[in-house]
Amino acid sequence: MYELSEEQEMLRQMVHRLAEQKVAPRAAAIDEEDAFPWDLKELFAGQELLGAGVPEAYGGTGAGLPAVCVVVEEIARVSAAASLIVAAQELGLMPILLAGSEEQKRKYLPGLAAGELISAFALTEPNAGSDAGSVRTGARREGSKYVLNGQKCFITNGGLADVYTVFASTDPARGIKGLSAFIVEKDAPGFAAGKKEKKMGIRGSQTAELIFEDCEVPAENLLGKEGDGFKIAMMTLDHTRPVIGAQAVGIACGALEYALNYARERVQFGRPIAGFQGIQFMLADMGTRVEAARQLVYKAACFIEEAGVKGAPPAEISRYSSMCKLFASDVAMQVTVDAVQILGGYGYMREYPLERMMRDAKITQIYEGTNQIQRLVVARSMLDKR
Ligand code: CAA
Ligand code: FAD
Repeated sequence: MYELSEEQEMLRQMVHRLAEQKVAPRAAAIDEEDAFPWDLKELFAGQELLGAGVPEAYGGTGAGLPAVCVVVEEIARVSAAASLIVAAQELGLMPILLAGSEEQKRKYLPGLAAGELISAFALTEPNAGSDAGSVRTGARREGSKYVLNGQKCFITNGGLADVYTVFASTDPARGIKGLSAFIVEKDAPGFAAGKKEKKMGIRGSQTAELIFEDCEVPAENLLGKEGDGFKIAMMTLDHTRPVIGAQAVGIACGALEYALNYARERVQFGRPIAGFQGIQFMLADMGTRVEAARQLVYKAACFIEEAGVKGAPPAEISRYSSMCKLFASDVAMQVTVDAVQILGGYGYMREYPLERMMRDAKITQIYEGTNQIQRLVVARSMLDKR
């Protein structure tokens, strides 16, 4: 069974208090207004929460992946959109952490860890979603620079990030093996953000198109070597899917706690509805699922954190990462739907937080790879196909 270390438990308690005091009172308004909560970004930066996954040598706290999961889970308990500030930062900086040169790490990671810079991860395109290897955005080498042309869609922090990790093809003839990864700064010539999406949930997190029209990127902004792009993207997602798993656990936990308290107080037929076995069994299943999901998420995060030292096979890293994101996001969906049911008609009303939590839960089954794709990764790993 996984248990938090003393340091992680202290972090959890600190973030729990912060989330209750500063984030929870803002959660409904963030959803309603659908505007990025800059004040919360500053708050998280001030508490060094954006640098938990960055080693101390590059300006972070070096607390590691399980700690990032703790932070995201506790914030997601009250606001999934606010927790995505931390999760998306981790995703955007991970390619630099995993594949950046010493110079690239020193140039970008301290600002990202401090929250002075915001990051984004730009893989998805209109015709390359689940089939991420079919990216069409092209990058042509011209002397000391690359010239990018193409379009990305659904990019979290699109239009407000300072630093983008962008995946583009340097050699279309080589397909997946022709993809390369680049660091693109927001003011690169020929780079612009396009349409901002209107979404079902995680409103307040900005999701936008990116447009590259003869966009000039210095050659030294290539991450790794030409052709490394797809592996960098997949290794990044291996590290960050548990963070989305933690977000899902947080959403489920928040919904369960709310439904539990409500069931104790709501009286029908002369007694609290918590006295009915039909409600008790729902609560029991919800609690069991949340705990099982939490265990799998932290098992995966610890496994991945220690994988380098222990020399774990890459396929096993992918398996745990995908398993935990798959399981936790399905739990978040089931638990939030049941929580709405426990509140009856009140659960359906905007005055109560559960309909927001249910809308927010849905995205965890879709982004960072849909759950069909997680099943594909798990099955391939089990059948030893990679
Ligand atoms: N680590 C290292 N290398 C990997 C790898 C991994 N985890 N997974 C695959 N590779 C390598 C393979 O070994 C193979 O290389 P070799 O031929 O040299 O062995 C190469 O990459 C191609 O792999 P596959 O044949 O498995 O590729 P595929 O086309 O079948 O695709 C996939 C695999 C798992 C379906 C992948 O396309 C995928 O993950 N799709 C989902 C995309 C996704 O998750 N997008 C998320 C966007 S970010 C986001 O959503 C953020 C947010 O919301 C905030
Ligand atoms: P499709 O790939 O078209 O899938 C449609 C359906 O077909 C899904 O149910 C899928 O599971 C299923 N399907 C596809 N292939 C298979 C298969 N082989 N087997 C079984 N079923 C299959 N991307 C980024 O790069 N960066 C971001 O920051 C980012 N943020 C996002 C934020 C939001 C709010 C959203 C909605 C998306 C974001 N994405 C981001 C994109 C996200 O990762 C993709 O939407 C996701 O990977 C699915 O791709 P798609 O939408 O094109 O669906």
